[in-house]
Amino acid sequence: MTRLSVNINKVALIRNSRGANFPDLVQVAKDCESFGAQGITIHPRPDQRHARYADVPALKKIVKTEFNVEGNPIPTFLELVMKHRPDQCTLVPDSPDALTSDAGWDTIKHKAFLTDVIAQLKEAGIRTSIFIDPVEKMIEGAKLVGTDRIEFYTGPYAHDFRRARKKAVTPFIKCAKLATKLDIGINAGHDLNLDNLPYFLKQVENVKEVSIGHALITDALYYGLKKTVKSYLKACK
Ligand code: PXP
Repeated sequence: MTRLSVNINKVALIRNSRGANFPDLVQVAKDCESFGAQGITIHPRPDQRHARYADVPALKKIVKTEFNVEGNPIPTFLELVMKHRPDQCTLVPDSPDALTSDAGWDTIKHKAFLTDVIAQLKEAGIRTSIFIDPVEKMIEGAKLVGTDRIEFYTGPYAHDFRRARKKAVTPFIKCAKLATKLDIGINAGHDLNLDNLPYFLKQVENVKEVSIGHALITDALYYGLKKTVKSYLKACK
């Protein structure tokens, strides 16, 4: 079964809009876990408009499942992650002003940098994952930089799902086979929802974890958090 890590950045965005600690990210993380989520993800960006750097130690204290921190490994981010040691760190090449992550690493061009950062994280006992487009060369590059896992950027799949799902999923099927052959673990995330998730997981082998935020929190507005988490868990089976 694929594990569900709930990305709670959107909850942080609502909290930040009023200045006080409401909704409380720590309580929301505890609730997601009690509803069955197998992980909690945050993506603190340098402008801290969603999750803040201070949320990392607060969540590290209470997350009992798997704590995944995503971000571009600029020095302040790396320092934060090395200090608080989440279970997993997902490296994302997003620019500071990016609306959201919109591309994977070029693992060939950034080979030396990624190799160095991944070695530091692994030395600290943190599992590594790198955000990747479904391109075979990039998967081969991921093997060379020593990462434990890759996270497929599923935005383009989600975008084309309604129109041409078979074509949209094909590169992921191929690249998942290659990653499995190379003994790299597979995660996936971005724009996944209750509509497009079951087909993706049925077609793409060995997906260990999906991290889902925007659609899940939006669905929770209509169905409530408990029911929504349970629906996503069902979709992961
Ligand atoms: N994975 C990465 C690297 C991300 O940056 C995000 C968004 O913060 C997600 C997964 C989750 O995407 P979504 O919010 O569309 O579910």
